[in-house]
Amino acid sequence: MSLTSTAFTNSSSPALASLPQFDRPTFLMCPPEWYDVNYVINPWMAGNLHRPSRDRAFEQWKELHQHLQRIADVRLIHGQPDSPDMVFVAHAALVQHGVAAISSFAHPQRQTEEQHLRRWFQKAGFLVWETPRETCFEGEGDALFNSAGDHLWAAHGVRTCRQSHRHVADAWHTTVTSLHLVDPRFYHLDTCFAPLSGGHLLYFPGAFDAPSLARIEAGYAPENRIAVTEAEATHFACNVINVGQSILMAAAGSDLAQRLGRLGYEVTELDLREFIRGGGSAKALTLRLSDSRITSGLPAQP
Ligand code: ARG
Repeated sequence: MSLTSTAFTNSSSPALASLPQFDRPTFLMCPPEWYDVNYVINPWMAGNLHRPSRDRAFEQWKELHQHLQRIADVRLIHGQPDSPDMVFVAHAALVQHGVAAISSFAHPQRQTEEQHLRRWFQKAGFLVWETPRETCFEGEGDALFNSAGDHLWAAHGVRTCRQSHRHVADAWHTTVTSLHLVDPRFYHLDTCFAPLSGGHLLYFPGAFDAPSLARIEAGYAPENRIAVTEAEATHFACNVINVGQSILMAAAGSDLAQRLGRLGYEVTELDLREFIRGGGSAKALTLRLSDSRITSGLPAQP
């Protein structure tokens, strides 16, 4: 990794050894102080303008926060009045090895979040990897490491530009596979694709074009692929938080929790309906700060 690269913008250019390291699963969350549906930038928001109840949203968020605190450390960033979607903090960056690739949101309505997250990461000592405005990139919304943390899956087609994939992967000198999203309901990779700690992949095949499905199938053996139905996918069944064997997710309205249970996962289903009105669920409300391996419960890289 080159510290002289112009994409890094930490004034102090810290040595890599001094970057934040987490020996426990650690996430960032943003309370829904200013959460609302103020505009429509995804199909889920249509018909939901100003419909979320802030009280219910707070209850649901607190419940998720409490459950997550039992299995991980949770840091907080305050929401901002000009950023009603900031609660979906997963999309503001992608983090690994103390480096935070900051998003360049596709929509001006979410671009206001970037400065707040950049400041938080700089203050917390992360090395900030900038992404150019002209090649949109929406953080963990569209880029997910496998559980071993040595390969990146990145989506394009709706929000994130394909041209951003190589630039983002360069922050860690990692390999990257591009996937093309084709259904506007599944506008972020984290709505239809979730690498799990046991080496499984939870995914909705209908969200991808045929070449992308072939790449997914080449990356995950049949016995490791857990395909969800369209009905499950529309309950945000792939938007899960996975820490070790634990999974936190919105109720999938099916037997998916039992199916995951048979594979060794402990699933907790939560009511996150106020956030689904905005187009996001459990995973979208958290941003992973600890390395993928630590979060997955794998031994740290030798
Ligand atoms: N309103 C937010 C947006 O459209 C919701 C993000 C939730 N995203 C997700 N991947 N679940 O950007």
